[in-house]
Amino acid sequence: MKRIILDTDTAGDDAVAIMMALRAKDAKLEGITINCGNISFDQEVENALYTVEVAGESGKVPVYPGARHPLLKEWRTVEEIHGSDGMGDSHFPKARQRPERKHAVDAIVDSINENPGEITLVEIAPMTNVALALRKDPGIAKKVKEFYFMGGANQYLGNVTPAAEFNIWVDPDAASIVLNSGMPVTMVGWEIVMRHGLIGVPELQEIGSMKTKESEFYLAVNRQVRKFMEIERGVDGTSCPDSITMAIVLNPGVATDTRERYVEVDAADGVSRGVTWVDELGYLKRKPNVSVVYEASQRVFRGMLYTMLRGGRV
Ligand code: BDR
Ligand code: CA
Repeated sequence: MKRIILDTDTAGDDAVAIMMALRAKDAKLEGITINCGNISFDQEVENALYTVEVAGESGKVPVYPGARHPLLKEWRTVEEIHGSDGMGDSHFPKARQRPERKHAVDAIVDSINENPGEITLVEIAPMTNVALALRKDPGIAKKVKEFYFMGGANQYLGNVTPAAEFNIWVDPDAASIVLNSGMPVTMVGWEIVMRHGLIGVPELQEIGSMKTKESEFYLAVNRQVRKFMEIERGVDGTSCPDSITMAIVLNPGVATDTRERYVEVDAADGVSRGVTWVDELGYLKRKPNVSVVYEASQRVFRGMLYTMLRGGRV
């Protein structure tokens, strides 16, 4: 049984990833921590709580609010991608479960210290909470079982600037701390999403025909993402950055090619802010610090997503 702590800026596909973790056969989602990112912080907290409720797990998974701001830099939220509420302008009712009083950073530090070698930490948001946890107790780097993150781009276009992916761009200082912490890190970059994590018209029709509460939820939270992708990218479909990352966590076989590389984050302000340099040719002569996912199975990922959206376990 994997024991997962999930750090999220809950909007759109983050919600799908939460639901996937809650439907895992061989993993238990033990806590959700909230980081600044996609939309207003308090709404992200509400979205996580609501997702837990829709999944039928209300009261069973604590939600810990964390960093409301990146370590050093300013950022901008992306309501144009996810809708004003981050959930496709669904404006869902407030969940019954309320957030914990404990801070996300303390929740991360305590759960890793209390369960050495046991906790899989999954990042689908900017890394502020995890960096602060490492600053509070650097020893957790050696005690965490593994750390997976959705973020960065490996020799690929960015999605918020020409070369940077959103999660890293929001808090590159935090990402730099985390990648250099000595934790066993696996990266799922934006290029993996564009190659294997897009859901097109036939798939959306298939999801539309399922008529489950999960499939209706998927279509609702992705409503604005679909409009955005069409207008900005000329693609009719939705993207699954966070849920394909969760699929890889739950079933490492989804990642079909993973390579050890040294990865450096550009944390300087300027046009390269947030770029993840994967030192493919080893010019920097540094020890690899990241297992970079180079290829994934679209077929296995979609199979897991469909099973979950039909109400099954993955
Ligand atoms: C990442 O940014 C967010 O908008 C998504 O939830 C995902 O984590 C993609 O760049
Ligand atoms: Ca996210």
